[in-house]
Amino acid sequence: MSTPIDATDTEAWANLGDRAEEFDPDLRAWFADDGHRVEKLTFTAADLLVDLSKELVDDDLLRDLLALAEEVKLTERRDAMFAGQHINVTEDRAVLHTALRRPAGDRLEVDGADVEAAVHEVLDKIYAFADKIRSGAWTGVTGQRIRTVVNIGIGGSDLGPVMAYEALKPYKLAELECRFISNIDPTDTAETVADLDPATTLFIVASKTFGTLETLTNARLCRSWLLDGLRAAGAIGSDQEAADGAVARHFVAVSTALDKVAAFGIDPENAFGFWDWVGGRYSVDSAIGTSLCVAIGPERFAEFLAGFHAIDEHFRNTELARNVPALMGLINVWYVNFLGAETHAVLPYSQYLHRLPAYLQQLTMESNGKGVRWDGSEVTTDTGEVYWGEPGTNGQHAFYQLIHQGTRLIPADFIAFANPAHPLRDGDVDVHELFMANFFAQTRALAFGRSEDEVRAEGTPENIVPARVFTGNRPTASIMAPELTPAVLGQLIALYEHITFTQGTVWGIDSFDQWGVELGKKLAQEVIPAVAGDAGVLATQDASSRSLINYYRANRR
Ligand code: F6P
Repeated sequence: MSTPIDATDTEAWANLGDRAEEFDPDLRAWFADDGHRVEKLTFTAADLLVDLSKELVDDDLLRDLLALAEEVKLTERRDAMFAGQHINVTEDRAVLHTALRRPAGDRLEVDGADVEAAVHEVLDKIYAFADKIRSGAWTGVTGQRIRTVVNIGIGGSDLGPVMAYEALKPYKLAELECRFISNIDPTDTAETVADLDPATTLFIVASKTFGTLETLTNARLCRSWLLDGLRAAGAIGSDQEAADGAVARHFVAVSTALDKVAAFGIDPENAFGFWDWVGGRYSVDSAIGTSLCVAIGPERFAEFLAGFHAIDEHFRNTELARNVPALMGLINVWYVNFLGAETHAVLPYSQYLHRLPAYLQQLTMESNGKGVRWDGSEVTTDTGEVYWGEPGTNGQHAFYQLIHQGTRLIPADFIAFANPAHPLRDGDVDVHELFMANFFAQTRALAFGRSEDEVRAEGTPENIVPARVFTGNRPTASIMAPELTPAVLGQLIALYEHITFTQGTVWGIDSFDQWGVELGKKLAQEVIPAVAGDAGVLATQDASSRSLINYYRANRR
């Protein structure tokens, strides 16, 4: 196992430290002094236009960041990832989500297996299945076509599918709807199936491990709901064979553990596999995306994959100085490790992307929320920042006050599209233009602010002048594309995957494991009997848990 290079030992890190001490950003002056700033700091990657000119960076600083990337061997680790080396050292696995979107025939052999052939074999199976559902050739046990597909999964087996389905709703088949169950709060299942007809509902049980408490519990709840509903309607008998027949028409699965799928009672013929070299939070473009493929169709799903691939090729082949994910990752390191930023906002000016911030929370925080490096040694600097966000313009009326005038440095990514899915007009007014005006205005206000003199010049009473001053120099990236298409969505996701990779490499951490989720799960399993009334197990709990469980049991009707 290679020892990660300690970024804090590098010359570049020392230079960045010195720079941070003197750092006095002045975007107004930087724009005034350098007429080429925008040109120099605006990049294209596939269909994405990325403007970094309102980031708190200048040429010298970027040079230091690029030197840091060299010193921590970013490109070597990138190439190791693409080649299938086991860079996920704590799980001894390759990290090959990029292989999910390589074109057919673009061979890649890993651990003696032809990865590409395997990927496309599964894709063909998913495409055939999607066509059958979409055409109505696949019917439920009563012979009716499927109208609702319910994805049952959590974490990476939910956040990607629901985010992408919501984002690409304009591309979905009108007569089909997807719903998503993730939480073990029984409300989630109850509310999701409440108005559904079992005869026209198909469930996708999505779980990489096929061992997740929430997903297996919800899958069993849904199976009972299905069988009870079909029996009540007289569609099936009460015998096991009838039940198995119904499950075979209304349940499919997605997992790396196809043996466990069979044990659950789902025919492996109706299961779509993927591999341990795909992290859950990197799996929306694997079979985990089956619900999306059913909704938008194989052709659009292929465009989605091609979008990812276009950014993979950009990340793999572009010199770092023009490499968008590498630059954005390095700039985030500057904010986190030198300017003390603890969070990062993602603000999509697209209602269809309303689940993107939640998706990016798992991608970035489950990847880089680590306290040890990939060799087990302690990290030598701060690591993963907290990602958060809401769609624009809603956020403007919620938390932008703090972003504009608060005391914290909050780097923010603004995302928008030139063409709306719904070009509505309010009389003569193009509403999308109003929307975009806000998008442009917000990054301008954050960058350039409003000085005391400017506030005074507006006739502001002296006593509130200070309250109306905007310091500016609040960093933003603006990411634009002509339209939110399947390809562009793939590009956006791949962009953030590689930004996350870049930061993880600088910090020397394994961005692809998630041991930190285990203790809570283990303790939950242990405490279940106590919650159910087992006094012996209750006695083994800490005093606070005992008191809370006693309160729960005393109040549970
Ligand atoms: O608990 C965290 C996690 O393991 C995530 O990494 C993963 O995406 C999620 O749970 C769901 O796991 P699975 O797909 O195996 O059910």
